[in-house]
This record gives sequence, C-alpha cells and structure tokens, in this order.
Amino acid sequence: MSALDELYREVILEHYKNPRNQGRLDEPDIATRGHNPLCGDDVEISFDVQDGVVTDIRFQGKGCSISQASASMLTEAVKGKTTAAARELISTFKTMMHGDSISVSELGDIEALQGVRKYPVRIKCALLAWTTLQEGLDLYAKADHSGSA
Ligand code: FES
Repeated sequence: MSALDELYREVILEHYKNPRNQGRLDEPDIATRGHNPLCGDDVEISFDVQDGVVTDIRFQGKGCSISQASASMLTEAVKGKTTAAARELISTFKTMMHGDSISVSELGDIEALQGVRKYPVRIKCALLAWTTLQEGLDLYAKADHSGSA
C-alpha cells in the first residue's frame, strides 16, 4: 500500500470511529433514506434549512466503514453551506468518484474517498450518503421552496 493510500485509509477509519453529526434531528425539515442494493445497507440523512442554508444535518444507518465515513464527511462539509453549494459539492464528489480529474483542493477529508475508486464495488458505498442527500435536496426544492434550492 502506498503512503497516500495509507493516509486515505487512516482518514476514512478516523471518521468511521469518530463519526461527526451522527443521529437524527428532532423534527427535521427533510429526512431521506437511501440504501445500497448490493448489500442492503442504508443511511438516513436529516437536515434543516434556513434562508437557503443547511443549518444542521445528521446521518444514521448501518453500513461499512466507507459508507459511514463518507456520510460523516458529507455532514461536515455540507453544514453551513447553501443548498446550491451543497448540490455543487455533490456533483463535484460524484465526478471525483467516477474518476474524472477535478481539483480536489477544496474537498478536505473527502479527498480520501478517491482512494476507493480502485475498488469499483465500493464506489456505491461512498456514494450512498451523497445520493441520499441529493434526494433530500430535491424533496426540499419541491416542497414549496421553489427557487431556494
Ligand atoms: Fe454496504 Fe458498503 S458494503 S454500504
């Protein structure tokens, strides 16, 4: 394993062992659940939005270290962002996971998940929380908040 792979592995394990923003918000504006059909694991993302900004966000569910670490990183990255910026981040993340070259400098810990690209079956694990959040943002946009997401 290269030094970079080892670093990525450590970052992922650190989030897995010390997940950020784990749990469920009381009465969230939106809660969506996604599951990985390949293994049956699932994740729920709940979040609140105020004036177009994701003010709070949590995740819960069961899954492998990659899916849980990815959800933890997602909550850290999205909290405090506008819904538009969150969508942009989801798109950047998906582009990275599908192997296209992007500047990853603004991704922080999330960059570690690009190490997963070498294992195609695990890419779905890394994407699970992100596609779930995307569905949540779509729901929010439809729920009488047109124009703000
Ligand atoms: Fe189930 Fe990774 S093995 S989400």
